[in-house]
Parts: sequence; C-alpha cells; structure tokens
Amino acid sequence: MAKTATVYECQQCGYQTPKWLGKCSDCGAWNSLVEARAETLTRGKSGENFYSLTSKLAPLDEIGTDAPPRVLTRLTELDRLLGGGMVPGSVILLGGDPGIGKSTLVLQILSRLCEQGGKVAYLSGEESADQIKLRAERLGVKAKQLYVMTENDLSRALPQIEELKPQMLVVDSIQTVYQPDLGSAPGSVTQVRECAGKLLYLAKSRGLTVLLVGHVTKEGSLAGPKILEHMVDTVLYFEGDRGQPYRILRTFKNRFGSVSELAVYEMRSQGLVEVTNPSELFLSDNPELSPGSVVVSSLQGTRPILAELQALVTPSSLGMPRRVTVGVDSQRVALLGAVLEKIVGIQLGGQDIFLNVVGGLDVDEPAVDLGVLMAMVSSFQGKALARRTLVMGEVGLSGEIRPVAGEAIRLQEASRLGFQRAILPKKGSQEKLPKGLELERVANVGAALDLL
Ligand code: TYD
Ligand code: MG
Repeated sequence: MAKTATVYECQQCGYQTPKWLGKCSDCGAWNSLVEARAETLTRGKSGENFYSLTSKLAPLDEIGTDAPPRVLTRLTELDRLLGGGMVPGSVILLGGDPGIGKSTLVLQILSRLCEQGGKVAYLSGEESADQIKLRAERLGVKAKQLYVMTENDLSRALPQIEELKPQMLVVDSIQTVYQPDLGSAPGSVTQVRECAGKLLYLAKSRGLTVLLVGHVTKEGSLAGPKILEHMVDTVLYFEGDRGQPYRILRTFKNRFGSVSELAVYEMRSQGLVEVTNPSELFLSDNPELSPGSVVVSSLQGTRPILAELQALVTPSSLGMPRRVTVGVDSQRVALLGAVLEKIVGIQLGGQDIFLNVVGGLDVDEPAVDLGVLMAMVSSFQGKALARRTLVMGEVGLSGEIRPVAGEAIRLQEASRLGFQRAILPKKGSQEKLPKGLELERVANVGAALDLL
C-alpha cells in the first residue's frame, strides 16, 4: 500500500524531509519547505516511468541514427541559436521575467511553423482564448493549423493533444498547469516536476517538439526546481530591460548545439523583430570617441559582438574610493588596477572608477582586459583613442598581452562595421585575417598605452 505520510519539500531545490525546517538543509533557502503528500512523490505508480524510453540493452554500434531532420522555424536568429533548427522530440524551456515577451515570441514561432504547413498547438494556462486571439491579430498571425487551448488541467489537455498530433506544442506556462491527482498547488516543485515529466514523455514518445515557458523568480533563476533545467534538452533565457525595446535571447544549455549563443530582438508594436546586426546597437552614435571610451569585442558563442566600454576615473573625496562596474567583472578591474600601479606606475588608488558597457551587454571574458585597462587610463589621462579602433587582448599579471580566442572572426566583424584599426596581442592567430585593417600588435601594457 502506498504511504500517505506527510513530507516537506523545498520549493527551490526539491529536497525532502519528514520534519518541517525553517531553512532547507540542502540548498540553504529560508522558509521554502512546503507540505506535500509522500504518496505522490514516489514515481512509477502504474509501472510507468517518464524518463526511460528504451528498455532494451543494446550496443551503441547497433543503434540506428534515423533521427528525423531538424525543423527550421525560418526565424534565422532562433534557428542559429538552437544549433540549426529545432530537433523533433526535444523539449525546450524558455525562461524570462514577466512581460518580457515570451508569449509573443512563442506565438510568432508557432505562426512561422504554420506558414510552412505544420500543425501546432498552444496550451495556455495564463490567458483566455480572446486575449490570445487579440494578440495573434496584432502580430498579424494568419495560421489555419494553429490550435489553441486554455486549460490548466494537464490530464484533460493531453488526450486532446495526443489525438491532434501536432508538430509542436507550447505550454505557457509550466507553472500554471497541474495534475489534479497530485494534490499540491500548481507551481509547486512536485507539480512542475511531474507535469514536465509527462510532457517530456509525450515529446520523446511522439516525436513532437515541446516548448515550456517558465517564469523567473526575483533572484533571476527559473521558478520551481532546478530539476526542470536538468530534464529538458535546451534552456533559453529571454532577458532585457523593460524600459528598452531590445531583448536578448540566450542559450543556457543545449544538447544539440553550442551554448552561450545569443540573438537580439526588438519589441515593436507588431511583435518581435530580429536584429541581425547587434554590434551597431551596442556602439554609441557619436562620431568622435571621448576619453574613457574604447570599443571591445565580446564573443558570444560563435558570434562576435562589438561593444563600447566607457570608463570614468575621477579623484575621490572618499577614504575608500568607489569601484562601480556594470557589465564588466569588478574583480578583473581590481586586478587591472594593480597591474597599472605595479608595472606602468599609474596610481589609481585615490580615484573613483566607474565602468559601463553601452547598451547593457555583459562582456565578461579575458579578451576585454586590454580594453578595460585602456579605457581607465584614457579617462584618467584625458587622452582619447581614435574612433574605429577595436581593442582586444588578455592582460597577464606581469603586464604581458596574451592572445585571445577567435581573433579572426572578431576582426571580420570589426572590418564589416567599417573599423580601420585594431590593437591586438603580439602573438596572433594563424588564421587568415581580413584585409583593410591596420593591425597594431602589442606585446605588453606599456606598448599599448603608447598608442593612446
Ligand atoms: P508578453 O509576450 O505577454 O510577455 P510574457 O509572456 O513574457 O509575460 O509581452 C508583454 C509585453 O510586450 C507587453 O508589455 C506588451 C508588449 N508587446 C508589444 O510591445 N508589441 C506587441 O506586438 C506585443 C504582442 C506585445
Ligand atoms: Mg505570457
């Protein structure tokens, strides 16, 4: 007989304990334990196991790879992000803050698939059919084979979906659907995990792509357990400032492609539009660079994005000068400050340092070291770099400039955007570099600063 004892389950990590605790002893979250029925937590009630699909042991050699080809959404940026289209039978998780445009994006994806003759389904637990219809009209969706269902109860929705046999199913959102037999509230760890398990099984057994929309908590992680991220094949995050029209879609995990890929979208009145040339967005418009501004290149997955870095270094009136960085790692800024002091003899100890990346991009990689360093010195000494100069290079603790990965593609992007000059490490790559760029190769920090 099934046990009906009570257990307490952490809503953050899924940890279970027979006794209530104020603090989860696994992940350390406070006040996150919620009562759940133990019976519902033991899996495989009717001999059904969500997670294993092949039950026969077979040599790897004999397993055929007759996998169906990828489905292109014809949204070029999204296809690239997914590693070349969607894999049938995969499960994608799309996370993001409320109001960022998740529902808009999925509706546009479904509409695109329909235009190519596919049959798709949209299961919404958040909005009424009227609201979805209104949004679809606004987006100009003309899709004959787009089926919409507004239902929270998964046990009622799934039979209909199985009967429809769509190419793709979107569940908006995973936190609002539930299975009534589990007894806990929608959005709880148990519900989220079991519902996702059911949908995962549906995807793998029927070969349809399932996209789960997930909410993000205040802390920025996906609401519900981390377990969800482990279960799915691909995790995408949709982020951006609500005050700005630009949105960034990022891969966080991808079993079928590279991670840390990035696509930029602009929210317009008719929906999301792909920005195919994001570097232009992150460079400021003024023709002359002012002291403190340097253009760096950040490699996001396979795509190099140029961004403008701005530094402001001013004498501090505080005993402990301020170090404020946005989009750059503050630890690296401290390290570069120390290199400047010890190797070059530029004292920034009594200065407030502010660093910012234009457009809200994160450029957290060693290749921007030299850019950060030059921006700080440029602001401190009031000397500007000529515009259209790209700076890259990793700075070592003894002041040497080390080579960076992907030099050629970064230079290609710069050349495409009309840059004429680049400052880069002495030891360069052996790849073919684009013509028309004046390359200033520097071996150490001192040589780089002479170019200011
Ligand atoms: P939505 O997709 O509902 O966000 P989410 O599902 O992530 O909560 O989008 C919400 C915002 O997008 C809303 O504030 C209005 C705006 N929006 C536009 O600017 N243009 C449009 O065409 C659409 C559909 C929405
Ligand atoms: Mg929504």
